[in-house]
Amino acid sequence: MLPIDKIIANVDKLPSLPTSVAKVMEVANNLKASPNDLSNVIKVDPVLTAKVLKLINSAYFSLPDQITNLNRAIILLGVNTIKNLAISTAVIGQFSKTKHKLFDMDKYWKHCMAVGVMCKKFSEKMGVDRRFREEYFIAGLLHDIGEIVIVEIFPDKLEQIAPRIQAGATLEEAERDILGATHAEIGAALGRHWKISDNLVAVIEEHHDPQIAGEHAQLVLSVYVSNIICNQNAYGMPGGSAAPAAPEIMAKLGIDEATITETLGHLEEELNKAMSFLKTAGG
Ligand SMILES: [Fe+2]
Ligand SMILES: [Fe+2]
Repeated sequence: MLPIDKIIANVDKLPSLPTSVAKVMEVANNLKASPNDLSNVIKVDPVLTAKVLKLINSAYFSLPDQITNLNRAIILLGVNTIKNLAISTAVIGQFSKTKHKLFDMDKYWKHCMAVGVMCKKFSEKMGVDRRFREEYFIAGLLHDIGEIVIVEIFPDKLEQIAPRIQAGATLEEAERDILGATHAEIGAALGRHWKISDNLVAVIEEHHDPQIAGEHAQLVLSVYVSNIICNQNAYGMPGGSAAPAAPEIMAKLGIDEATITETLGHLEEELNKAMSFLKTAGG
């Protein structure tokens, strides 16, 4: 059995996503679904309903009025955003208790959120339709989910991975050496096990390999670039790739230096808002 097959077998032993979240994804992926259809599947799960409403009313969205009606929330934010809220709640909730002395959870989430916030900013600059911008935040937020999966299913291997990184290896090199697979591959295995949407799985799997970015290239490359910029600017992870992003990729996305400087200038402030997202989604 190849190491990755063995890992996938372990990932498949992790609990499935809550049925209600799986249903939300199913309905949201149906182009004919109405806000009412979505509301009906969320309503069945009171915990999910409460979380979605709490998220909508959190500082992250900074809406002028309190929203107490699920249907209204869906109409206001769109089916896609609500689907993303449900996915992130489930993913973050699943790992909210995961910890390890060699893994700095606060630093990890700060990195993921910074990538998400930056990526969403880039989506605005790139003129991505408003309905799909939240996808960019969630993609950034979840891109390194494989790292937590490693902490969860191979805690003892961290003892071997951490010293390699300290000695100068990149995270991917250390993971490949010790586990035979990277957090990108392992995270994608989780994404498939949970049947989360293809574009998010693509981001998780390809965010270090811009050359393989296919169908969802714009989203994948936005995360790729944001990840590198965050690693270069105090929002990084140990062993995170900090080699400059290829100029042709930046040009392809239409992200220039001025945009990066502007985004970095507001990042801390935006991160504080995004903190409320994480707190609410995981709590
Ligand atoms: Fe990564
Ligand atoms: Fe990352």
